[in-house]
Amino acid sequence: MLLVIGFGVLLRMLRNLRQNTVLEWSNETLNVPGRTVELPLVGTNMIMTDNVDNIRAIMTTQFEHFGKGDTYRKIWSSLMRNSVLTTDGQAWQDNRNHLVAHVAKIRPTDYAVTERHSQSLVKVLSDGQPHDTLDLLNRFAIDVVSDIFYGTSTNTLVSNDQSLRDAIQQHKDRNTWRNLLSGLGALLPPNVKACETIDSYLDGVLRNFSPEQSESLEERDRKASSLLGDLAAQGVAQSILKDQIISVIVGGRDSVAIITTWALYELVRHPEILHELRKEISAGIDPSTPINPAQIESFVFLNRVVLETMRVHTSVGINVRTALRDTSLPTGGGADGTSPVGILAGTNVIMGLDSVHHRKDIYGPDANVFDPHRWDSNSKPDTWTYYPFNRGPRSCLGKNLAIMKVKYALCRLLQAFSVIEWLKKADGKLVVVDVDKEPAMKTKMAFNTKPADIVWLRFAK
Ligand code: HEM
Repeated sequence: MLLVIGFGVLLRMLRNLRQNTVLEWSNETLNVPGRTVELPLVGTNMIMTDNVDNIRAIMTTQFEHFGKGDTYRKIWSSLMRNSVLTTDGQAWQDNRNHLVAHVAKIRPTDYAVTERHSQSLVKVLSDGQPHDTLDLLNRFAIDVVSDIFYGTSTNTLVSNDQSLRDAIQQHKDRNTWRNLLSGLGALLPPNVKACETIDSYLDGVLRNFSPEQSESLEERDRKASSLLGDLAAQGVAQSILKDQIISVIVGGRDSVAIITTWALYELVRHPEILHELRKEISAGIDPSTPINPAQIESFVFLNRVVLETMRVHTSVGINVRTALRDTSLPTGGGADGTSPVGILAGTNVIMGLDSVHHRKDIYGPDANVFDPHRWDSNSKPDTWTYYPFNRGPRSCLGKNLAIMKVKYALCRLLQAFSVIEWLKKADGKLVVVDVDKEPAMKTKMAFNTKPADIVWLRFAK
């Protein structure tokens, strides 16, 4: 028997979703013995947990019992096709096998690619105007992954054509609502025009992919040894190639932009931390030479800033798995919250990962405070209480590349600009925020968990 949260609480959940306080709500709702509750939703069974033993079971020990499920696949395959991001079982394993050799490692040339797009980012930000930081970092992230994985960058930082990004966003906006409606949402159509734009982009990538026509030998080799070059040379079917390309575009874009944006936001709000980080970076690298892996590795404080950003602002703060068979969770049931919980096939289990990251019994009374120094005596987070990339067989394939991209962009931005100001809209104008008085920004739950408002930052040399 599991604690069932009443109908009134469900209405509160929807209200919190609208008010961008759903993460606070989930943390509060889970503050019960066993940290596991059942949410009564019409037409679907839904359980929410931030119990570490249950999360470990879903991610590892009972991995095969849980997956993305049919409804998720029906809704999201319109964007993410039959890729690693939507499939389960053997289809998922096949996709992961296609990607692993390329996505899980960083090639030496990936640093040069990241450098090139970091310089474009710096150039765009050098105009002295406030910028929607998440939007620009999103462009940076897609430009880097497209360049690395198929050798032709989307170059959205230097182009006026944002049609691919717009199509992905329109798609996500529609599908986020379809997702909320669960089985019913799967019956509603996706954004057809956005589907066409994305499909024709993928066709173009395959049609124009030709390492032999590169401008230099270096470029030819880089393209030929990219994810696409390698799979095409193996004779992998066109439709499967498209699945792999879309998975790196969608998987490799938003989270990098979200984490880098939150990191800049926290640095601006904490001038003493920004100062300490600037000191470490300026002592370690020269602005005019590319950053090498050993230099990035040597930045101990930068690492703590990124670890802490991903704890406080988990970009996949809530992750849902569907039970693929009748099963159980090891704990969280009964009056004292220690009995196993029976789970019927088709039940959606919401993992409150952001909620774990804010648990005071795990991270201490200051769990809600952004403090990179909490990692001073413990630079390796505990496997089962820290999950920005998830854990187990389905954890993020691009983790190393992701961390490199976030750190690289932060290094270059802090080197290039000595002033970063946070602005907000007031009376139709953008005004500089007094960081001591401004309340913290809320987090919006959509496809990812991201800043609820635009993070306007202005950079100056
Ligand atoms: C800071 C940046 C990033 C974060 C926080 C992040 C986090 C995550 C998380 C939490 C998942 C699991 C999603 C789920 O279960 O539904 C995931 C999956 C994945 N990520 Fe990342 N990611 C980041 C960047 C990247 C990058 C740069 C790539 C490179 C292309 C990438 C590729 C993938 C792929 C392919 C998967 C699917 C793995 C699977 O289902 O087997 N990610 N990521």
